[in-house]
Amino acid sequence: MFEGAFGEAGAEVVIEEFLPGREISFFALCDGETAIPLASAQDHKRVFDHDVGPNTGGMGAYSPTPLVTPAIHDAIMAKIILPTVAGMKQRGTPFRGILYAGIMLTTQGPKLFEFNVRFGDPECQVLMLRMMSDIVPALLAACDGQLRNFDLRWHKESALTVVMAAQGYPGDYQKGTRIEGLDDAAKVDNVEIFHAGTVAKDGAILANGGRVLNVCALGKTVTEAQARAYQAVDRIRWPEGFCRRDIGWQAVEAEKAKG
Ligand code: GLY
Repeated sequence: MFEGAFGEAGAEVVIEEFLPGREISFFALCDGETAIPLASAQDHKRVFDHDVGPNTGGMGAYSPTPLVTPAIHDAIMAKIILPTVAGMKQRGTPFRGILYAGIMLTTQGPKLFEFNVRFGDPECQVLMLRMMSDIVPALLAACDGQLRNFDLRWHKESALTVVMAAQGYPGDYQKGTRIEGLDDAAKVDNVEIFHAGTVAKDGAILANGGRVLNVCALGKTVTEAQARAYQAVDRIRWPEGFCRRDIGWQAVEAEKAKG
């Protein structure tokens, strides 16, 4: 680095604490004064099954994650989210909007390693499936500093999304390939398909990006949501696309172990 591999950016190196543990995403809505929790989720960043291959924007997610127990949820709010909102206000830069905390669950408790000020992709898709309330009044209350007594309601079910990407992603990939079977896939119970990188042309749906579709499902368990999502994926005819086949594996294993 000091020899110029990263140009000017390599002139200074920051050494950070190594955080061994399990990574989760946690979302809160802030109004400048306070914050209300949205939900936890778990992303799958690596491109291939068993978490191997290059990093991507996210190949699938589920929410909530059983790793975030009620005690961990409370600790994240009390030790990370609310102090951040209070600190931003104290500095004279109150924050209103979505706070997305990247958190490592370590043996010493949850530790923050990054904040984004946006929803996650594909975490947003699973949050929206679980959100029973209308999001617009919540966003308006955040703008107006009125979240203190705001109550958001959530479906109890788990939501899971499988990202379908163009072959080659996250490297080079082809655009313009034809995707069929979407209507049939959307007929699977409790399935919703969000388009991320498609274009409609002459009555056909064509791929128009790297991450192209989010095939989402709700289920009583992550195992059920996963089965529904893959049932829908299997109805989609897109030879130039691919997806991971193990989204949700950690929760599915935990559910199996619980019996
Ligand atoms: N899925 C990770 C992100 O949105 O940054």
